[in-house]
Amino acid sequence: MELLTDSTALQRWIDARRAAGGGIGFVPTMGALHAGHMALIHAARAQTAHVVASIFVNPTQFGPNEDFGRYPRTLDADRVLLTEAGCAALYLPTVEQIYPEGFQTSVRVGALAEELCGRSRPGHFDGVAVVVTILLNRVRPDVAFFGLKDYQQYLVIRRLVTDLVLPVRVVGVPTVREPDGLAMSSRNRYLDAESRRRAAALYRGLSLAREAWIAGERDGTVLENRVRQVLQQAGIDTVEYVSLREARSLRSYTPQADREEDPVMLLAVRVGGARLIDNMVLSSEEGAGLSI
Ligand code: PAF
Repeated sequence: MELLTDSTALQRWIDARRAAGGGIGFVPTMGALHAGHMALIHAARAQTAHVVASIFVNPTQFGPNEDFGRYPRTLDADRVLLTEAGCAALYLPTVEQIYPEGFQTSVRVGALAEELCGRSRPGHFDGVAVVVTILLNRVRPDVAFFGLKDYQQYLVIRRLVTDLVLPVRVVGVPTVREPDGLAMSSRNRYLDAESRRRAAALYRGLSLAREAWIAGERDGTVLENRVRQVLQQAGIDTVEYVSLREARSLRSYTPQADREEDPVMLLAVRVGGARLIDNMVLSSEEGAGLSI
């Protein structure tokens, strides 16, 4: 795997791959890689000829009291995983390369980015939107891959790519879960054994809501309360939100006689010093992966 530590090396690599033919797949990450990221690399390899990943812990998407300083940085292990997964190149920009002196542009997606995580983490999606725009412009991939665990982020990125007419196809890759259902996340490393045990309640709650949906329950408040109850019983410290939304627009879910939108249950909690998010599309086969 080639290491590309500046934009000149990146441009050279991209130009050479383009000349060789075949599409370029891009997997942007913040490192601390796990099986969820590897699923992105595998999806990219299946759909494109040349796969480049990036690792950049983006300061602008963290709030002042968030975990930017302690976010896990595991470059050596990440390089091994990417190499084993068949990633062809790793772009490793510095903060100065992404945000050079004088940088002052913002990218703000509207309503989609303002609720849920946008409400509990003000400015978070502005930071994601600006860095993803820069990375996509630098890498110029044909296809970019994002995990559906960050469901709202995925929709925000799709919106920005459409609105700014960026020439890239965005693909969402289903969430990879631990055997007890906990969604893989770099932040799971913050959990001690007891918090890790409690965190399994996120998937249990979402699965119960999905079972209730399949059994015919359509009242959003009832479904949300099922999830809340499971989280409470498990002793989850703080529930930021549990919310049933329309899967494409993230508007509050209201069943309509004439059009049935797919419902997605989204949640964010704090457990043992970690902020964890998860979601499930209640109407889809496996509860994840909705092609939109
Ligand atoms: O999902 C992530 O890892 C980050 O938010 C992303 C998309 C790489 C932007 O920093």
